[in-house]
Amino acid sequence: MTKTTKRKINIVLVGGGSTWTPGILKSMTTHLDLLPINRVMLYDIDEQRQSIIGDFAKILFREEAPDVEIDYTTDKEKAYSNVDFVFCQMRTGGFTMREKDEKIPLNLEIIGQETCGPGGFAYGLRSIRDMVEMVKDVRYYSPDAWILNYTNPAAIVALAMDKIFPNETRILNICDQPVNLLRSYAKLINYDARKFEPTYFGLNHFGWFTHLYDEFGIDRMPEIKEIVLNGGFRPVDAEQRDQSWLDTYAMVEDILRDFPDYLPNTYLQYYLYPEYKLSKLDPNYTRTDEVRVGREKKVFEECQRIVENDTARDSHVVHNDAHGDMMIEVAASIAHNLRKTYVVMVRNNGIISNISDDAMVEVAASLSINGPQPYAVGPIETFYKGLIENQHAYEKLTVEAFIESSYTKALQALTLNRTVVDAKKAREVLDALIEANKDYWPELK
Ligand code: NAD
Ligand code: G6P
Ligand code: MN
Repeated sequence: MTKTTKRKINIVLVGGGSTWTPGILKSMTTHLDLLPINRVMLYDIDEQRQSIIGDFAKILFREEAPDVEIDYTTDKEKAYSNVDFVFCQMRTGGFTMREKDEKIPLNLEIIGQETCGPGGFAYGLRSIRDMVEMVKDVRYYSPDAWILNYTNPAAIVALAMDKIFPNETRILNICDQPVNLLRSYAKLINYDARKFEPTYFGLNHFGWFTHLYDEFGIDRMPEIKEIVLNGGFRPVDAEQRDQSWLDTYAMVEDILRDFPDYLPNTYLQYYLYPEYKLSKLDPNYTRTDEVRVGREKKVFEECQRIVENDTARDSHVVHNDAHGDMMIEVAASIAHNLRKTYVVMVRNNGIISNISDDAMVEVAASLSINGPQPYAVGPIETFYKGLIENQHAYEKLTVEAFIESSYTKALQALTLNRTVVDAKKAREVLDALIEANKDYWPELK
């Protein structure tokens, strides 16, 4: 229907000073027909980051969406009052701590990554506390708001929220990597990614596409696999990507050669080839360094330039259109009951019938006004079952380590992680991470 029949919603972006905010705001301004908006509030705990992006936002909206109210704040009451949708993308500890998550393990010859292995574990223990606080604050000021969470490590965050707020029905954890991959596959066959009906199973950053049906019901996956095996794989927005992301996408060809059943999520490279990836990672220059001189620098410099010029018309400050578009499309599907299919995280409850019910699985779901209606997956084969059960045990022990302040569970979690395995190495990296995270973690006993 036309936009006049849709109710205009109020959105707060938590982590409003994020490098992804300009892209999300731009998507909001270009999708007002799909998702009519009354007010956008940006909220961050870092006043400086927030004001740079917030001042850019005011110029963008004045020029592109003058009917939408836009403001920014570091005040919770102002942020969370009278809100329909919360888009959450915070980074507890910032890039300073992300750098440690990557470099501490790498210096001990273990994978160091934002969301995988000990780095993801450390980030998880930092994120949970701030996420719990956010959920409580939102519920205090806006009891019925939808919370769409993108904060990483999304696998750990999703499981922790499910455990700590078991009766919540309006928190949805999402990752954009399935959409990034769908767009990249679509480019290989000159197809519109939005028309794919995908089937997917796994955990966040730990899953596989099993079918990619087109609008005629034909599975295009065999064709896509052939193209990847013969010509390699690149992200759809390769020209915007740093070398590490190009290397990551290229690994899909290797994974496919070894395990030809399905198309893997790129993050599986760290779990399937930890030794090889370790040989390619530099402990003195990690993804954080790349982001600092790349995405972060560009976003903040460009926002400042726009504010000085008082116009955003000559500018392109957006990184990865897929990310912002997905956030808006997901919110629209829920707000306006569009029942579109997205890959999201939900409590298993039998969706994958031969793994634990309490896992937070990542699967295709139709998104309606009542939230995600996941499609059944059924039983999965031994190799995938083994991998997923192991990873779920790691995730569950990580969340329990936080809730119970348990050193033993933390050690068990890291020992189970495929990037670590050896218990002495697990203890060594855990002790180093405890020291580095003193200001953020509960005291593990
Ligand atoms: P960033 O550091 O640039 O942005 C995060 C912002 O959150 C910062 O401005 C910081 O001050 C703010 N923040 C920290 N703690 C906060 C709190 N308690 N309340 C409110 N704001 C707080 O990082 P980024 O690279 O832009 O990423 C932002 C987040 O989004 C990260 O968690 C990242 O992993 C995640 N992300 C997820 C996906 C996905 O697919 N799920 C995709 C992209 C980014
Ligand atoms: C992908 C992942 C996200 C991750 C993002 C950015 O989209 O799904 O979870 O946060 O990449 O990673 P980067 O290393 O570029 O900050
Ligand atoms: Mn992700």
